[in-house]
Amino acid sequence: MRLIKSILKKSFLYPLYKEKQDFKYWQYKIGRLDARRGDLIDTYLPKGAIGAELGVFKGHFSRVLLNRTKPKELHLIDPWFLLTSEWPWASRNKSTVDALCNVLKSNKQEINDKIVYVHIQDDLKLLKEFPNEYFDWVYIDSTHGYEHTVSELQLLLKKVKASGIICGDDWQPDVNHRHHGVYKAVNEFILKHNYKLLYADDKNLQWFIKKNI
Ligand SMILES: C[S@@+](CC[C@H](N)C(=O)[O-])C[C@H]1O[C@@H](n2cnc3c(N)ncnc32)[C@H](O)[C@@H]1O
Repeated sequence: MRLIKSILKKSFLYPLYKEKQDFKYWQYKIGRLDARRGDLIDTYLPKGAIGAELGVFKGHFSRVLLNRTKPKELHLIDPWFLLTSEWPWASRNKSTVDALCNVLKSNKQEINDKIVYVHIQDDLKLLKEFPNEYFDWVYIDSTHGYEHTVSELQLLLKKVKASGIICGDDWQPDVNHRHHGVYKAVNEFILKHNYKLLYADDKNLQWFIKKNI
């Protein structure tokens, strides 16, 4: 095996082989993360309810949310190509149009059944258009910036039911981390608006909060 690998390393085919191996590893990591995130979704989010994902990307996690919560409605909100033609930070295919096409294609049945609603829009602009107390839960995974998360939470205060759940990705307690803004914004929000932290973990980066009622 070692000999084959060392021969392969010298071959012009090596970059192709390496890319395939990296992709397999990446798929494995994403699969494990989605399974862990999925278990938390099972625990904390209600089934058959109205939910939203802010920041959809290629729709990997939307499928997990759909399968685990079996929602009455799932609103997928992302500006995709309105934001940029390519995400510079994305791995492999960076195209926002391709990502959106994939989301539409892979949710075709649920879109036709009026379960999944795909919104090509900045979340702060779009959320304002929903009636107050509309959502049972909202999963935040958009810019990961402090100011933007503060604004999202401020809007969700009205748009999520009093008994509802706000949750999301990127729980980074390290003040030097570039996505620490989510942690900071959520903690300030909890104190200011009498919410409680149901779950937060800096390993799988997930967090869930609920109003004290
Ligand atoms: C980390 S990715 C989301 C990953 C996705 N939730 C998943 O788990 O597969 C961040 C996404 O946020 C989107 N985004 C950036 N600004 C946004 C905004 N103002 N409103 C909604 N989504 C935004 C980006 O286009 C990108 O698709």
